[in-house]
Amino acid sequence: MQIQIFQDKESLHRAVAKELIDAVKTNPNIVLGLSTGSSPLETYDNMIKDHQTSGTDYSDVVTFNLDEYVGLEGSHPQSYRYFMNTSLLNNLNIPLNQTNVPDGSGDLKEACEEYEAKIVKAGGIDLQLLGIGTNGHIGFNEPGTAFDTRTHVAQLLQETIDGNARFFGSAVNVPKEAVTMGIQTIMEVKKIILIAYGSKKATAIREMVNGPVTESMPASILQKHQNVTLFLDEEAAALLKI
Ligand code: F6R
Repeated sequence: MQIQIFQDKESLHRAVAKELIDAVKTNPNIVLGLSTGSSPLETYDNMIKDHQTSGTDYSDVVTFNLDEYVGLEGSHPQSYRYFMNTSLLNNLNIPLNQTNVPDGSGDLKEACEEYEAKIVKAGGIDLQLLGIGTNGHIGFNEPGTAFDTRTHVAQLLQETIDGNARFFGSAVNVPKEAVTMGIQTIMEVKKIILIAYGSKKATAIREMVNGPVTESMPASILQKHQNVTLFLDEEAAALLKI
């Protein structure tokens, strides 16, 4: 694992955006893996700003998102499809039919199989952006998820539901299930960039990097990936032993 530590969130987001923009410029047909949540938001803002001022071209880029809540249509303001469209995709020149978010509203088994098949057909994911939950989840792969999982329906743990309650007004409104890429799906991407900032993430970051590789800390599997870079601020990195 490579680790980059930034003094503040702003410089961290600028650096991650530069990685993504440079990757798109180097390979205009790149397959990007994207994530939602608060971690990538300002990175996306930087990418939009760059597209508007420098015209970086996304017309041949393909994207795959990590996850989607079960039961929410893409038009629901809290769906991850809606989040992606409004936070990034509608503001770049990428045709929306080249952007993929798991479908949490139809036949779920079929949706999971189709998602995996689409990733394979696209030639695999070149560069995946990840955040990390305070409990070490990546995607919606909660502690206890088997390392050999592919895209599947996951049950959200109460701590994840509580963590996302701020977006739904109250925890009771948060869906209890999500369709998520599995750990094995994530391990097969060519390159991973994981963003974490703030003291709330410090314990998960320490366990991911310095702890044992165990299914009770899903992100710890990334120790075994060949090309992972962590982009951390000083608070998220505070407990690391390096
Ligand atoms: C989002 C996702 C989640 C988040 C994680 C961190 O698509 O898969 O694993 O990355 O929950 O969320 P934030 O960034 O809101 O702290």
